[in-house]
Amino acid sequence: MLLELRIRAWVYPTQEPFCQGEIASAVNDFDKFCAWRTLQTKSIMKPMLLAAALVSLVQLEGCAQNGKKNVSTKKDNSNEVSRHVGGPCEGCEAIYESPIAFENLNQTDSLPDFAEPGPKIRISGTVYRSDGKTPAKNVVIYVYHTDQTGHYTDRGDQKGWGKRHGYIRGWVKTDRNGFYEFYTLRPVSYPNSNIPQHIHVTVKEPDKNEYYIDEYLFEDDPFLTTSERNKQEKRGGDGIVKLILQSNGVAHGTRDILLGKNIPAYPSN
Ligand SMILES: [Fe+2]
Repeated sequence: MLLELRIRAWVYPTQEPFCQGEIASAVNDFDKFCAWRTLQTKSIMKPMLLAAALVSLVQLEGCAQNGKKNVSTKKDNSNEVSRHVGGPCEGCEAIYESPIAFENLNQTDSLPDFAEPGPKIRISGTVYRSDGKTPAKNVVIYVYHTDQTGHYTDRGDQKGWGKRHGYIRGWVKTDRNGFYEFYTLRPVSYPNSNIPQHIHVTVKEPDKNEYYIDEYLFEDDPFLTTSERNKQEKRGGDGIVKLILQSNGVAHGTRDILLGKNIPAYPSN
């Protein structure tokens, strides 16, 4: 597909590709998420630059989930895209790879790295319905993040999306009070990057399809610049947590999740 993009950009210099959803997934599934449109300008540089940008983004390692930072998921009537709550999301279906059936999940999980060396953290919070005040029970939350080297490490026994998300992932389900928590190590940024440390998160409400929300980010991360903060869409509410070291050596951060908040195609009732 990348070669096709390059060739197309050269052969049709007055056309440009445009995609919806995560740009990497969009390019990999071009027919579903992308289309070609005629440039309003006669510039031949624009399509070439776009093609180059696509190539660069596709070659990024790691994130296999969200398209929120690069491509708008706002509805574009000029392109036929199958839509559901939250818009396109590559890898959100990994939530269904829970080793424990949803009905048997509980509100707490320890991710596989928690027993390993590194800064231990606990994230907890309450999930609320779209009214912002009613606790939401039975909401499944899937999280995954990089290891202490900044990689999504597959230890060789991962299956499905685990091959890309790595072994550090976990699932919880909110209790009757909407409460959830998970224990893990604080993730490390990608090697040789200034991308903030982050934990990817997907949620699944009982009566809706799964969708991603803003990643967990950390207030004291030096890479969490003003620019990075401004990029956040606040899907599900603010994902930035402030970690406070506890007497047991585990730093605790709180994040409440507001279902439907800034989520495309979320039903109004
Ligand atoms: Fe990532």
